[in-house]
Amino acid sequence: MPQATVTRRYRFCAAHRLHTEQLSTEENWTTFGKCNNPNGHGHNYVVFVSVQGDIDPVTHQVVDVSSLDEIVGRIIVRRFDHQDLNKDPQFATQTTTGENLVLLIWDLLVNEVPAGRLVKVGVIETRDNYFEYSGSAEHARGEDGVRHG
Ligand code: NI
Repeated sequence: MPQATVTRRYRFCAAHRLHTEQLSTEENWTTFGKCNNPNGHGHNYVVFVSVQGDIDPVTHQVVDVSSLDEIVGRIIVRRFDHQDLNKDPQFATQTTTGENLVLLIWDLLVNEVPAGRLVKVGVIETRDNYFEYSGSAEHARGEDGVRHG
């Protein structure tokens, strides 16, 4: 059975501020620069969701795109669009870096794709910043639904 990977692009606009309580005020500024500005700032985030699987012999598709759109729209776009990422419960104790965001999006979607399997999530934050995550054994989602490692 031939396999292929389908990638869909999604967008949301959100505000955030890079800051961690683990660092002092000065260290936060040194580490994050203007992204540590207390007023925050916004990005037009672009999210790529890649699903790999068998090509269905009847539909000749890996995944029903409208079903994938509904899931990503409901779980990701609706959650983050026009929000302050720092106020998302998941970021209560985590910094809203692109790295943490791409891992969170992976965790939210990994068990939700309608067919095939999630193989990569990419996040464009700025013109020059792109983050991606493809999962790993250490970060496999456990039975309790929590990412371990
Ligand atoms: Ni930023």
